[in-house]
Amino acid sequence: MKKQVIAGNWKMNKLAGETALFIQQLKPLVNNAVCTVVVCVPFTDLSVAVSAAKGSNIKIGAQNIAWADSGAFTGEISGAMLSEANVEYVIIGHSERRQYFNETNATVQQRTKAALKYNIKPIVCIGELLEHRQQNMTEQVLYSQISEGFNGINADEMSNIIVAYEPVWAIGTGVVATNEQADSTIRYCRKVFSKLYGDKVANNLVIQYGGSMNDINAKDLLNMPDIDGGLIGGASLNENKFAAIIKAAKA
Ligand code: PGA
Repeated sequence: MKKQVIAGNWKMNKLAGETALFIQQLKPLVNNAVCTVVVCVPFTDLSVAVSAAKGSNIKIGAQNIAWADSGAFTGEISGAMLSEANVEYVIIGHSERRQYFNETNATVQQRTKAALKYNIKPIVCIGELLEHRQQNMTEQVLYSQISEGFNGINADEMSNIIVAYEPVWAIGTGVVATNEQADSTIRYCRKVFSKLYGDKVANNLVIQYGGSMNDINAKDLLNMPDIDGGLIGGASLNENKFAAIIKAAKA
């Protein structure tokens, strides 16, 4: 049975001391959660977060993974390193990485393969820019992101992958997609996955919405039929707001 997944994306926020405190305070607020709870923290907070979350229902994720196993890749962190740190999830291809760090559909595909190899669940981000939506190119952009980003990934591997649909114009802007926009665009993505992998894989695939989701709008978004969870930026930095979003998840 597919469970909704609520994942926090802290981006480049919080030091180790704040991380330990946050996880300790979050634990009792979410111990009855009906959804999967993930917190994706900066690399330097990972070990503190994993220790603090031990024995709880909170899963810890990273925000990037190298495509190579090891070697001359200055500044990168490998799957083996994340796996040794007991990291269970990793965000791949976030729009900020696509925009500022030259991430492409091809590197997203390589990083996703690396995560799967090390049994780390990828949260693969896709989403259109404002100009794409204005020029009616949303579906075309998403189609390329999916067909190229998931190239060579088989149906079995899809059961370990989460997709986050994040319209770039809604990220960090306070402009949330309408419930219908988010739901219908996710439905389109599911149709593409269905074409590539068949209905069963597509229906079992968790596709989150992300972009200015918060404690106020989460319930309506998470109640939409095709939305299987949320990837939360700003609102995941506050344990009470994040816990409220987790409480809004559908059983
Ligand atoms: P936001 O970020 O919730 O602050 O809009 C979402 C994301 O970037 O994943």
